[in-house]
Amino acid sequence: MKKISPSILDVPKDNLINYVTQLTKWGVNNVHYDIMDNIFVPNVALQYAEVKSIKENCPKHIMDIHLMVKDVFGYYEMYKNVGDIITFHYEALTEGEILQLIEIAKKDNVKLGISIKPKTKVREIIPLIKNFSLVLIMSVEPGFGGQKFIENSLNKVSELKQYLTKNNLKNILIQIDGGINGDNIKNCFKFGVDMAVVGSYLVKNFSEKTINKLTER
Ligand code: DX5
Ligand code: ZN
Repeated sequence: MKKISPSILDVPKDNLINYVTQLTKWGVNNVHYDIMDNIFVPNVALQYAEVKSIKENCPKHIMDIHLMVKDVFGYYEMYKNVGDIITFHYEALTEGEILQLIEIAKKDNVKLGISIKPKTKVREIIPLIKNFSLVLIMSVEPGFGGQKFIENSLNKVSELKQYLTKNNLKNILIQIDGGINGDNIKNCFKFGVDMAVVGSYLVKNFSEKTINKLTER
């Protein structure tokens, strides 16, 4: 599966509903929602009311929620009934807490994703990996849109891809987020990414043509 999940972080607030509606009309069925707490990262992003209003007012689509927060449990409770998949940061919790969260999500029947920052190694999350539906490799430091893609992220993708293939865990999606554009997305897919988050590049070039360019093989 090779898909994009547009991030609406850099979309003007008064245009969120239009933007997401237009994406679904162009056949995009995943959208990436960035949530920040100004603690885990030095910024704030979408508010709960905005995400809820998009859910209520836009055509149905898969909502992937990217929690860049320290209080993962609190935000998980807030978003578990809004999002289709909730991705948190490995760096925000202890291993014991991660195991606790996995149990909670199992009971709630909520799909969980785990994300790692650029400096975190893939091997750190390997022991936990089978519990997740998605692994998000950050290709910029989380917190802001419009940053430059960190090339080494591709090595992490390929390491992860090899592990998942070898261990028959191919149903776990590999997502990449940060600095993706019409040029580097092909390489991401080539290295094993299933779903590429595209933020500012698509905001700046918002057209069906760009969507086609990003998803063409
Ligand atoms: C950054 C966010 C990203 C961001 C991507 O911390 O997690 O989802 O919106 O934006 P671009 O594609 O502009 O790097
Ligand atoms: Zn994100």
